[in-house]
Amino acid sequence: MSNDDGPTTPRSIPAADGLEWRIAEGGELDLTRADREMSERGFDRVRTLVQLRRPLPLDAPALEGIPAITTRPFDPARDRHDLLVVNNAAFDWHPEQGNWDLADLDSALDQDWVDPAGILVHDSPPTGTPSAGAPSTGQVVTDAVAGSDPGIDGFCWTRVHPADDPELIANGDPALGEIWVIGAHPSRHGTRLGPALVAAGLDHLASKGLGTAMLYTEEDNEPAMRMYERMGFGVHQRRGGYAPTGGPR
Ligand SMILES: CC(C)(COP(=O)(O)OP(=O)(O)OC[C@H]1O[C@@H](n2cnc3c(N)ncnc32)[C@H](O)[C@@H]1OP(=O)(O)O)[C@@H](O)C(=O)NCCC(=O)NCCS
Repeated sequence: MSNDDGPTTPRSIPAADGLEWRIAEGGELDLTRADREMSERGFDRVRTLVQLRRPLPLDAPALEGIPAITTRPFDPARDRHDLLVVNNAAFDWHPEQGNWDLADLDSALDQDWVDPAGILVHDSPPTGTPSAGAPSTGQVVTDAVAGSDPGIDGFCWTRVHPADDPELIANGDPALGEIWVIGAHPSRHGTRLGPALVAAGLDHLASKGLGTAMLYTEEDNEPAMRMYERMGFGVHQRRGGYAPTGGPR
């Protein structure tokens, strides 16, 4: 990439999802220029991801209106299936995070940075409805398969980016604590379970000594954007994902 035009020049990032991605960062945080350049090449922006950041720990204003909840660390033997149910219900609209099967989850859990103690789960209130048995690897898990009473109703999967991470050093970033995925079961949406899970994840990251939290979300995910704004997050970077004009979205 060339930096001749200064820090607001959109730059590309590698992607495995078939889209061409451009990052806009620095002073403007706008993708207007990337849109123009990509349009000349016959591409339209079909996704916009924002990276949000805020200092840790959370302060009282960020916690206003958020209920206190009890979370516990993810236990693979007990929670693998239930986490998949919640994930697939919460992200049924999402191009990468939705429609996971057990193999997808296991491969995510196998990443070398994953710490099960950094995946916080919330037990759903008991309803007495029995849950269906765990599916075999390769079978996509949905409520229709698994029953509508998952053992957990939400989770917050955190990730620590240590200060000696070469990418952070190259970008001049401090150590970062990431909310990697957070999902509440749709039956619990609107109950503030989501922000309570984010708060639990941020507490966990702060307890690890991290002073900056970050996460990515789709810019048009309005409930999530409102939740993060209320919790004091601000936009640090925007990424545009481009597809050939008239091609599949
Ligand atoms: C984003 C998410 C975690 C928020 O969790 P939540 O427990 O619903 O959070 P809240 O109760 O604070 O509700 C957030 C907003 O959604 C609205 N909402 C969404 N679904 C609702 C429902 N079924 N009933 C009532 N309100 C609903 C709430 O009114 C609230 O709006 P407001 O900001 O104007 O008050 C949750 O919607 C979710 O899991 N979404 C899918 C996964 C996702 O997008 N994760 C974040 C990606 S980074």
